[in-house]
Amino acid sequence: MIEQLEQLFEDAKSKLTTLKSTADLEAWFRDTLGRKGQLTALMRQVGSLSKEEKPVFGKRANEVKQTLQSSFDARQTEVKMAQLEAEMASDALDITLPGRRSRKGGLHPITRTLREIYRIWGDMGFQVYQSREVETDEYNFEMLNIPEHHPARDMWDTFHTTSPGMLLRTHTSPGQIHAMREYHPEPIRVILPGTVYRYEQITSRSECQFNQVEGLAIGHNISLADLKGTLSDFARRMFGADRNVRFRANYFPFTEPSAEMDVECILCDGDGCQLCKHTGWLEILGSGMVHPNVMRNGGYDPSEYSGFAFGMGVERICMLNYGICDIRNFWSNDLRFLQQF
Ligand code: DAH
Repeated sequence: MIEQLEQLFEDAKSKLTTLKSTADLEAWFRDTLGRKGQLTALMRQVGSLSKEEKPVFGKRANEVKQTLQSSFDARQTEVKMAQLEAEMASDALDITLPGRRSRKGGLHPITRTLREIYRIWGDMGFQVYQSREVETDEYNFEMLNIPEHHPARDMWDTFHTTSPGMLLRTHTSPGQIHAMREYHPEPIRVILPGTVYRYEQITSRSECQFNQVEGLAIGHNISLADLKGTLSDFARRMFGADRNVRFRANYFPFTEPSAEMDVECILCDGDGCQLCKHTGWLEILGSGMVHPNVMRNGGYDPSEYSGFAFGMGVERICMLNYGICDIRNFWSNDLRFLQQF
C-alpha cells in the first residue's frame, strides 16, 4: 500500500504542473485531496495494515498530504497571476479612450487688474504694503485729520463692530499711518491695496465691499509736480500712452491741496457719451499732498518732509478696462460672467 501511496504522490505532483485553469485545478483537488479523493480513500484503508506498518504509513501519508496541499496552493497562485497577465495583455483595457479634460480655472478680473496695478507701481519703485481691514476709529478717521463730528465723516458710512471704536475700514488711507509709523524716518514709496467696506445701498455703481489701491510717497522736496507727473505716468501705463488726463481741485481732509484725476473717456475718446455722462472724462482717483497733521501723526516733521498720496478704486478701473457695466457682477459668483476672463 505504501507503493500505491508513492505512486499516487508522483502522479498527482506531475499532473499538477500541467494544469492551466482554475476549473482544472478544482477538479484535481476534488480527485486527489477532496473528501472523495484518492488520497483520502487510501488513508481510510489504514485499518487493514499490520501494527508495525500502520504508523509508518500514517506518517508518510500525512507528509504526502501536506506537500500536495502546499504545491496546490502555489500552483493556484501561479495560474491566477498568469490569467491576470493574459487579461492585461489582451485589449481589455482600452488606453486609446480619450481622458476627461480637467476644467481650467482663471483669475478673477479684479485680481488681474490688481496685478496690473502692482506691476506698474512696482516698475516705478513702489512696494506693496499690506494693512489691516479691521481698523480703529482713530486710524480710519482721527489720524487722517477727520475728528469726531466732522462733516467729512459723511463721505464714509461705516460698518461698526460690537467692540467700541473698532470698525471695518472705509478706505485704505489708514494704512498710510501704519506705513509711516513703521518706516519713520526713512523715505517711503508704497502702495497699499485691499478690500474696504462701506455701509451703503448696493446699486450697479456701488457695492458695500470693494477694493482700493492707496499710494504714499514721503521724502524731501516732494512737490505737487511730482504728484502730477507720477500719476499721469501711471495713467499712460494703465490706459495707453495717448490717453489724456486732467486734475480737478477737490477736498479731502487728509491732503492739502487735494485733487481728483480724470482720464479721457475710454468709450468715446472724450467726445461725450452715456458712460462719462457727456463730459468726456472719467474720474479714477483722489489724491493730494499729505496734510501736515497727517504727516505729524505718522511721526514725520512736516517742516522737513513732504509727500503725496492717492487712492484709486480697483473695480472702477477694471470696469473701464473690460467694459463691465454692473459692479455687482464681481461678487455674484456667476460663471457666465467669470468665464469671460
Ligand atoms: N481715501 C479716499 C476715499 O476713499 C481716497 C483718497 C483721496 C486717498 C485722496 C488718498 C488721497 O490718499 O490723497 O475716498
